[in-house]
Amino acid sequence: MARITASVYTSHVPAIGAALDHGKSGEPYWQQVFVGYETSKQWITGHTPDVVFLVYNDHATAFSLEMIPTFALGTAAKFAVADEGWGPRPVPEVIGHPELASHIAHSVIQDDFDLTIVNRMDVDHGLTVPLSLMFGQPVAWPCRVIPFAVNVVQYPIPSGRRCFVLGQAIRRAIESFDEPLKVQVWGTGGMSHQLQGPRAGLINREWDNQFLDRLIADPAGLAEVPHIEYVREAGSEGIELVMWLIARGAMSDIDGGQAPAEKHRFYHVPASNTAVGHLILENN
Ligand code: DHB
Ligand code: FE
Repeated sequence: MARITASVYTSHVPAIGAALDHGKSGEPYWQQVFVGYETSKQWITGHTPDVVFLVYNDHATAFSLEMIPTFALGTAAKFAVADEGWGPRPVPEVIGHPELASHIAHSVIQDDFDLTIVNRMDVDHGLTVPLSLMFGQPVAWPCRVIPFAVNVVQYPIPSGRRCFVLGQAIRRAIESFDEPLKVQVWGTGGMSHQLQGPRAGLINREWDNQFLDRLIADPAGLAEVPHIEYVREAGSEGIELVMWLIARGAMSDIDGGQAPAEKHRFYHVPASNTAVGHLILENN
C-alpha cells in the first residue's frame, strides 16, 4: 500500500523563484532565506518520495472569476509551468501521477468531499516555488507531483476546519492505494502577508510562530480558528495558511498514530512582502 512518509510546509513567495532563476540566491538578502532550506534539501535527498501531493493556491493563473473551484485535483499526466506575466519560470515540467490522482478522486469524493477534477492545468508560483525551495534547480523534478489547488483568493473560501478534515480523507485515500509508493503531502502558502490596501506590508511574527507551535502540537484546536482571525492577524493573504491544515490532517497521529517527528523548523522576515515559514514533520 502507499504510505504518507512526511508532510512539508512552506511559503511560496514568487520573488524567491525570481531570485533563483536570475542567479541572485547568493545575495545577502536572499541568502538569509535560502539558508533555512539547506537542511531541508539535505533531508529530502535521503527521503525523496515517489509522489508529492502538493496543496497550493492558484493566483488567477489557471482559474479566474469565470471558474472558481474550491478544491481542484490535478489528474493529468503533466502540468505546464505557467506564464505569470514575465514568461514561464525556467523550471522543469511537472509530471503528475494520473493513477494515484484518480484513486484519490474516487476515495475522497465517496468520502463526501466534492472535488473538481482537472485534466488540464498550468501551475504557477504557488506550486513551483515550493518545489524549487525543496529540490533546488534540477533538470527534472525528482518525483511525480499531484497538484491540489485550493481557492483562498475569492470568497467564500473553505474554513480551516474543512481543510483539516479533508486532509484526513486524503490520508485514507492515499493509504488505500494498492502500490508501495512513498508519498509526501505538502501544505504551502502563507505566512503573514498582505499585498493590498492600507495594511499592505503587514507581518505578525508572534501570531505566525504561535501558528507553527499549534500546527505541530494542537492541530485540531488550530483548525477551529475562524477566517476573520487569519485576516486580522496575518493579513488578507495570510489566509493561505488554511492550506497547511490539509497537510497536517493527513498525518497519522490525527487518526490515533504516534506524534510526528519535527525534522526542521524555520522562520524568517522578510522575503518580498511575506514572512517565510517552513516546517518538516516526519511520520513515526
Ligand atoms: C507575494 C506573496 C504571495 O503569496 C504572492 O502570491 C505574491 C506575492 C509577495 O510577498 O510579494
Ligand atoms: Fe500567494
